[in-house]
Amino acid sequence: MRVIKTAASMSAACRAVPRPLGLAPTMGSLHQGHLALTRRARRENATVAVSVFVNPTQFDRGADYGAYPRNFDLDLSKLDEEGVDLVFAPPEDEMFPPGFNTWVEVSGLSQGLEGERRPGHFKGVATVVAKLLNVAGPDRAYFGQKDGQQLAVVRALVRDLNLPVEIVSIPTVRESDGLAMSSRNALLSGPERRAAAVIHRSLVAAKGLWDAGERGGEPLRAESRRVLAGDPGVSRVDYVSVADPDTLCELDVVNDGAMVSTAVWIGETRLIDNLLLGPGP
Ligand code: PAJ
Repeated sequence: MRVIKTAASMSAACRAVPRPLGLAPTMGSLHQGHLALTRRARRENATVAVSVFVNPTQFDRGADYGAYPRNFDLDLSKLDEEGVDLVFAPPEDEMFPPGFNTWVEVSGLSQGLEGERRPGHFKGVATVVAKLLNVAGPDRAYFGQKDGQQLAVVRALVRDLNLPVEIVSIPTVRESDGLAMSSRNALLSGPERRAAAVIHRSLVAAKGLWDAGERGGEPLRAESRRVLAGDPGVSRVDYVSVADPDTLCELDVVNDGAMVSTAVWIGETRLIDNLLLGPGP
């Protein structure tokens, strides 16, 4: 496994490796959710690259950026074990040197839900993802369904800018109590960690109602909110959404494939999760 720090050497390495090349962009502090991306990439590509870069431009609060968990040495040993070939881990000023002034903005999709609560977040995500795709030039790039709006933004970015890469989405990997794996889970205290399971329960409740035949968007949102409101561990609910997963428009009538998503504060930690409605788990 090669660890590469500069964009120029990463581009050169990616040009020289056997194709197809799969890239999984991450911010490190890797867990089984991330590793599901690299495993799928390993199955589908001759070469697997992973980027590990805590992107300062996608954090709307400096404190959040500072507190974001980092564990680079452990990340490297996990990636080595998974048979990853290339790790791109640039320092901050390699990606955003003084004078950096070109931004990628996916309008519309970036405005609601996460974008509304975290102004500028998706501008930072779209910009860094465009840069990573340009540097590595992969045939496929792997993203988790866990960040459903991010996935929609990345798909739009690739389509609108004609980037020659296939975007592959990976189902959300969960803890045994249903909590979606997230690097931020490490910030939860013991009691908060136990309370956080309510997030998935609230989405499952909406899905249960949908499975039973309810097709109204508002009753489904109300059901999730009811479950969240019933748990004293929830300090705040930013939103509960039932939306089209591609356009992110809120739905009045909810058919197959809709995305139920929520953002919830457990103590001082903000967590997001979603479920796709339809047959299957
Ligand atoms: P990060 O939060 O590190 O996540 C990296 C990738 O892993 C994302 O595509 C995310 O959706 C996926 N992922 C995270 N938790 C998951 C889980 N429990 N199950 C399945 N996939 C999961 O998302 C980012 O980093 C950044 O925004 C990034 C795309 C790297 C740009 O900076």
